[in-house]
Amino acid sequence: MNTATEGLNDRLIVQEVAPRDGLQIEPTWVETDDKVALIDQLSTAGFSRIEAGSFVSPKAIPALRDGDAVFHRIKRNPDVIYVALIPNVKGAERAMAALADELNLVMSASQTHNRANMRMSCENSLTGFGDIAKRVRGSHVTLNGTVATAFGCPFEGAIDEGRVLAIVDAYLELGMHGVTLADTTGMANPRQVARIVTRVLERIGPDALTLHFHNTRGLGLANVLAAYEAGARRFDAALGGLGGCPFAPGASGNICTEDLVNMCDEMGIPTGIDLVKLLELSRALPALLGHDVPGQLAKSGRNCDVHPVPDYVRSIV
Ligand code: COA
Ligand code: ZN
Repeated sequence: MNTATEGLNDRLIVQEVAPRDGLQIEPTWVETDDKVALIDQLSTAGFSRIEAGSFVSPKAIPALRDGDAVFHRIKRNPDVIYVALIPNVKGAERAMAALADELNLVMSASQTHNRANMRMSCENSLTGFGDIAKRVRGSHVTLNGTVATAFGCPFEGAIDEGRVLAIVDAYLELGMHGVTLADTTGMANPRQVARIVTRVLERIGPDALTLHFHNTRGLGLANVLAAYEAGARRFDAALGGLGGCPFAPGASGNICTEDLVNMCDEMGIPTGIDLVKLLELSRALPALLGHDVPGQLAKSGRNCDVHPVPDYVRSIV
């Protein structure tokens, strides 16, 4: 575990979520070997955290039904925390048996989305999380609680900020080490983000808060910047901008890791992540998945990747 080296100050921490959020919605089966190879490559790209899979019902998310094998076969980098998304006690048991470092427990602020995604009420999700918290106590495993649809719900629309804060408080009461606010279908806007981040940072430090944005309405990186300027330092992002919740109508990809790292590099915000390596990995995604991916930097190149000057330009005096 390297929580001590997840330095704060101006550093922006990226948790790579392509192996989980990215792949969960892919219609094409990605072989276990290919998942392991992708995670192993990501493990050498400078990330301190990778969400490497989920332990949910294989009927709900068939694309990630091999989570146990994936976690057992990846080459662990001791500087990386390998996170698993969990819906219930059974998922927690599977993830602990597969030696996940951190369990990411997910519940929506919206009752309707929680019923669609987790097939239970928020109250039942929280009861299960209480049981999980008891089980992990005394182990090396850390717990993170995600509030999905924290900035808006595709079924219910606006979500009351007081409800989001009450869920954060409930998570802290259960002893969770970290909290993620997730914008499941990209409904957040920068001013809303700054307001909620400020209120959550009155409860927990920036080392314990993660923002999870989807770029569904094109506001992903604007929301990152608003959160960063309000004091947040940890963000989820997916290689290639893959991702989405299959139980949220209109869902689309996470903010794209290489686009985010490029923004940080250009602005002088340290991330510790190797952008050249990310571009190489991102450019291999279309062949793996059989379709183009939303990320922009892999198509455009970095600012410093300048183009050759055409002959006709050279001849102009
Ligand atoms: N891992 C593997 N299998 C699981 C499981 C888990 N974590 N939880 C439940 N199951 C199995 C049960 O054993 C049962 O199997 P069976 O039909 O062979 O007997 C089956 O799934 C149904 O179990 P039940 O407890 O009735 O679940 P459900 O149908 O009410 O669904 C969840 C509840 C939470 C398991 C399911 O909705 C789910 O996995 N949701 C996650 C969705 C997701 O990952 N969304 C994207 C990320 S936010
Ligand atoms: Zn997501």
